[in-house]
Amino acid sequence: MQKLTIRRPDDWHLHLRDGAMLEGVIGDTSRHFARAIIMPNLVPPVVTTADATAYRDRILKALPTGDRFQPLMTLYLTEHTSLDDVEEGKKSGLITAVKLYPAGATTNSHGGVRDLNKAMPVLERMAKIGLPLCVHGEVTTPEVDIFDREAVFIETALDPLRQRLPELKVTMEHVTTSDGVNYIKSAKANLAGSITTHHLIINRNAILVGGIRPHYYCLPVAKRESHRLALRAAATSGDTRFFLGTDSAPHVDPLKECACGCAGIYTSINTMSCLAHVFEQEGALDKLEAFASLNGPAWYGLPVNDDRITLVRRHDAVTFPAKIETGAGPVTVFDPMFPLHWDVES
Ligand code: DOR
Ligand code: ZN
Repeated sequence: MQKLTIRRPDDWHLHLRDGAMLEGVIGDTSRHFARAIIMPNLVPPVVTTADATAYRDRILKALPTGDRFQPLMTLYLTEHTSLDDVEEGKKSGLITAVKLYPAGATTNSHGGVRDLNKAMPVLERMAKIGLPLCVHGEVTTPEVDIFDREAVFIETALDPLRQRLPELKVTMEHVTTSDGVNYIKSAKANLAGSITTHHLIINRNAILVGGIRPHYYCLPVAKRESHRLALRAAATSGDTRFFLGTDSAPHVDPLKECACGCAGIYTSINTMSCLAHVFEQEGALDKLEAFASLNGPAWYGLPVNDDRITLVRRHDAVTFPAKIETGAGPVTVFDPMFPLHWDVES
């Protein structure tokens, strides 16, 4: 039996939702992760420090008894975000980052930013006070092919923004292409990227071959195999600019299995098992701790977690439920399509 002990990991991009769904999913994160950056795309979104305070309190209230977990709150950037509120949020220690959703890019992003110029005063203030911007890096222009959205975003939005405001710290979230990986690697400073569990495992065939499989649909959509391989190389390289952001995004099954299904894959429950499998396949188990537990805190200027978790490689496959039941309805769990053998020792 093989064992691997690492610092307790954090999730640098997570959707916890609210109400019954929050209650149904939070334990799957707090079981293994000490902290997570909480996405603000609720309905209505988390746009002010007051909204974030109330949401943090609801998250803490929903935590299973005895679990210690720190939600790191974000604000949803709009064209009307208050500069002073953002600064207040950062100063009080509540707000870890501000999230940019280009309007229309994904779930509940219609209130996001249409014209980045309108958000420049806030971005300038963030650069000044050292508050990072988390970016959903996709253009929404209808003429751009959905598989090219990330590459076009880098060229037409992200790079111009970074040239205009080089002091702004930018996290390119859920990088899905070699273009994204190369762009991050080419940056001299102030740019890092998170990578999801599922984008290390699936390519676009998972969604489309042999029938349409809505539980592999997320945004940014999984790309072709060469991109998946680039993501695996980046994640397992130990390069401090890449870290885990699961983008675990629960939707109830009826909203996934329909004519116009929601984007999102639920991985909180089996992420550590999946990651250990991927890192083992890449001969890089020694880099798992950097990816899941060290690089993220270093980027966000936070201490690494004190305690540790132990992963155990079992002879028999470790099983996870195909679905979890939540008060909001059933949520299908990510199926990596291979048996998992790594388990987190409780
Ligand atoms: O697949 C996704 N689901 N991508 C996102 O950017 C949003 C998320 C959600 O909130 O469902
Ligand atoms: Zn997300």
